[in-house]
Amino acid sequence: MALAEDHRSVVARDVPFPMRDLLHVPRERYYDRGFYELEKEYLWPRVWQMACRLEEIPQPGDFVEYEICDQSILVVRQPDLSVKAFHNACRHRATQLCSGSGRLPGGQIVCP
Ligand code: FES
Repeated sequence: MALAEDHRSVVARDVPFPMRDLLHVPRERYYDRGFYELEKEYLWPRVWQMACRLEEIPQPGDFVEYEICDQSILVVRQPDLSVKAFHNACRHRATQLCSGSGRLPGGQIVCP
């Protein structure tokens, strides 16, 4: 735990535009490019994301594209009704596989 505590204290010390109270979020946090880059590196990869609601993908092959920062993720209902998420890029040339939401043709992800 010492490593995690050390990491937290370093991050907390270096956060720009600190919150001085719980009711006031400094406006710079909404538009500052440097703050956005810090969020991309330290926040969004480490927290759970609300990618979609299960009701949006009721049938096998249903998908929703979830975008966060420069990442695009496909959330797909599986034949056994479980849910999996995939990078929305083919392995060959990183072509985007799907956009928006819908049902995968033939229930499979296919590079266009
Ligand atoms: S671009 Fe070749 S498989 Fe996607």
